[in-house]
Amino acid sequence: MASNLTPFTSRLALLRKPSIRFSTKAVQKLQFIPKLSRPVAPFLHRTTDFVSVHYSSCLKARAINASSQDEELVVLGIETSCDDTAAAVVRSNGEILSQVVSSQADLLVRYGGVAPKMAEEAHSLVIDQVVQEALDKAKLTEEDLSAVAVTIGPGLSLCLRVGVRKARKLAGAYALPIIGVHHMEAHALVARLVQSDLQFPFMAFLISGGHNLLVLASDLGHYIQLGTTIDDAIGEAYDKTAKWLGLDMRKSGGPAVEELAREGDEKSIIFKVPMKQHKDCNFSYAGLKTQVRMAIESKNIDAAIHVAAASEQDRKARADIAASFQRVAVLHLEEKCERAIEWAMKIEPSVKHLVVSGGVASNQYVRSRLNKIVEKKGLQLVCPPPSLCSDNGTMIAWAGIEHFRMGRYDPPPPACEPEDAVLDLRPRWPLGEELAQGRSEARSMKTARIHPSLTSLIQASMQQ
Ligand code: KG4
Ligand code: ZN
Repeated sequence: MASNLTPFTSRLALLRKPSIRFSTKAVQKLQFIPKLSRPVAPFLHRTTDFVSVHYSSCLKARAINASSQDEELVVLGIETSCDDTAAAVVRSNGEILSQVVSSQADLLVRYGGVAPKMAEEAHSLVIDQVVQEALDKAKLTEEDLSAVAVTIGPGLSLCLRVGVRKARKLAGAYALPIIGVHHMEAHALVARLVQSDLQFPFMAFLISGGHNLLVLASDLGHYIQLGTTIDDAIGEAYDKTAKWLGLDMRKSGGPAVEELAREGDEKSIIFKVPMKQHKDCNFSYAGLKTQVRMAIESKNIDAAIHVAAASEQDRKARADIAASFQRVAVLHLEEKCERAIEWAMKIEPSVKHLVVSGGVASNQYVRSRLNKIVEKKGLQLVCPPPSLCSDNGTMIAWAGIEHFRMGRYDPPPPACEPEDAVLDLRPRWPLGEELAQGRSEARSMKTARIHPSLTSLIQASMQQ
C-alpha cells in the first residue's frame, strides 16, 4: 500500500479553472510537497492565499507517517448530503471504529419528504454532537486522525455545506488533510470494505432516494455510466407511496412499504412496467408514482388516517397497492439490470461482481429479486449490510481512505477560515461518463450547472 501513496496531489487540482491561486512556489518554499509540479486548486475557493507554516509542518510529519504505515490511517468521514447527519471513524484495514447517524425522522413525518432549508437547520443543530460522538465511540481524539473525508456532492447544496464547513473547521484546527468525496462513489466503494477481495472491475447498481445508477467500475475513480433515471429514483417512489398510503415515515417510506407489502397480493393491481419499449438501461419512476396515486384515489384511501388506525378492509387495500407497486418497481430494476450486465460483460468480460448499494438496497425483496438476475448471469451479488447501504459516515471515510492511498487529497484548510469562504460544493456531479449506447432518447437532461464527472476529472489529472 505504501508504494501507492504519492505526494500531495489534490484531487481538486483537476478542476479545469481553479479560482484560487495556490502557488506551487509557495508550497515548495514550505517544503511539504517534495515533487509538486503543478498548481493545486483545493476544493475551497478563496480570494486570499492560505498557506501557513503551522499546518505545513504538521502535515509533513503526518504524510510521511501515512505513506510508510498505511495500516495506520484513521479517517473521520462526514456525510450531510441529504437528510441524515452521519459521521464515522474507520481504519484503513477496514475496521469501523464508530458510526453515528442522526436522521431527521420528525421532519420527514412533518413534510413527507426532505425540505432543504429545514434539513440544513437540522444538520447544523446536530453536526457537532454527531462528530463528537463518533470520536468518543472510537475512543479517539482529533489528534489521532490521519485525515477527514467529507461528501462534497452530489446532494443538496445547503446540506452539503454544513458537513463541508464542519470538516474544514476540524481539519484546519488539527492540520489534517481533507478528502472531498463523491457520495455515489462512496455507496459503491463501501462494498470493498465489506468484501476485501472485491477487485475492479465490478458493476454497481446504486439505488437510493435520489439516484438509480448503473455503472461499470473499471477502477478507483473510473466509472462508465450504463444507466440512470430520467426523472425520479426508486426511493422517491417508495417514499411517496408510503406517504399516500398513510404509512409510518419515521424510518423513511421504503421500509414501511416493504413491511406492508408482505400482507398484500402483488398481482391484485396491474401497474405498467416503466420504459419497457426503451432498449437501454435507464429508469423512470414518475409514471409509476402517478399510477399508484390514481389507484389510491380510486380506492378512497385517506392518507390522513394512519394505516394502524385503518379498518381491516382498508388496510388490505393499502397492502395490495404496496405489494403491487413494489413488484413493478422492482421488475423495472430487474429488466434494466439484466441488460446492463450484458453491456458491461462486453466491455469488461472479467467482471465477476455486482454491488447493490444505496438505501433501497436494504430491502429484502429487492435483494432477492436482483440476486436471481445476478446468478442467472453468472455473477456474484455483493450487498453491504443495511446500515452501510443507507447514508452513513463509514462509506465516506472508506472512500476517503481509498483516494487518500492514491494521493488524492487536499492540504489542510487554514486554521481560521472565514465563515463566508466560498466552498466547492457539487450538487449535480455525475460519477462517470455516459456510455453512448446508454443515452436515453426519452431524457431531456438539463446539462446546465452540472459539474464535470469525477471520472473525467481524475482522468484529466492523470494525463497531466
Ligand atoms: O441512500 P439513502 O439513505 O439516501 C440517499 O442517498 O437518497 O437512501 C434513502 C432512500 C429513501 O428513499 C428510503 O425510502 C429508501 O432509501 N429505503 C428503502 C428501504 N430502506 C430505505 N426503500 C425500500 N425498502 C427499504 N427497506
Ligand atoms: Zn445515498
